[in-house]
Amino acid sequence: MPLILCHSAKGGTGTSFIAAHLAMHLAQQGHEVVALDFTYQDALKLYFGLLPTQSLVEFRGSGSSPLAVAGVELFSGYALSRESDFIEALRAGRSPFAERKIYIADVAAGDRETKDLLLPFAQLHLCALLPHPVSLAALTKVQAGTPAIELTKTAFILNQLDDTHRFSRHAHIFLRELLGERLIGTIRRDEAVNEAAAMFEPINKYAAASAALADIREVARAVEQRAGLVTEADQLS
Ligand SMILES: Nc1ncnc2c1ncn2[C@@H]1O[C@H](COP(=O)(O)OP(=O)(O)O)[C@@H](O)[C@H]1O
Ligand SMILES: [Mg+2]
Repeated sequence: MPLILCHSAKGGTGTSFIAAHLAMHLAQQGHEVVALDFTYQDALKLYFGLLPTQSLVEFRGSGSSPLAVAGVELFSGYALSRESDFIEALRAGRSPFAERKIYIADVAAGDRETKDLLLPFAQLHLCALLPHPVSLAALTKVQAGTPAIELTKTAFILNQLDDTHRFSRHAHIFLRELLGERLIGTIRRDEAVNEAAAMFEPINKYAAASAALADIREVARAVEQRAGLVTEADQLS
């Protein structure tokens, strides 16, 4: 039951964008993928090309029947994350996740409770950062009391990188030095991400040549490796 938990200490860093594209990439690689939107905002679906008015099925454990988009089973987990039975089950170490599937959880930056509940079940925690001082300052908040460089389950992604801006370049160098291999990838800032969402289209359809799309695919491959999801057949091909 690999669970990949997508959560950042700061909002607006690209967590939902990354979660959606990671889910689509893994589905394309032949995995059975479930994407769970634990946010009240409910924006994960926009990166799949759905409309704001299209509501998701509530996740009710491994027996739930989903809405499938781009090969990914898409659920809302927000209501469930507020239910005491669900909270108690997770606290008691009982997993609601099926063994054979990969779960991608999108958790809102402010919802540390859900993040802390899911973390023990996660194989990997992905934390998106922006090349902005306020995002870098939030590095101290990724997990209370533990320095970012000591977080063994966490991999960082620098999103909205723009090499034409000095601070962006310097933030990249700083994070590479600080985090080393824990910085598993970077994604360029690309207006096509916003335009595709505004057109209610997945970015691969709206702008197949998008720089951000090329980068998120690279990041997804790195996550696949890091989470041990690459099969021998994949490695040989
Ligand atoms: N690489 C990128 N280039 C340009 N815009 C981006 C990029 N990644 C995300 N965005 C935009 O940034 C905003 C926040 O992204 P989102 O994934 O919703 O963040 P979060 O889930 O962390 O709050 C959205 O408007 C999104 O379209
Ligand atoms: Mg989000």
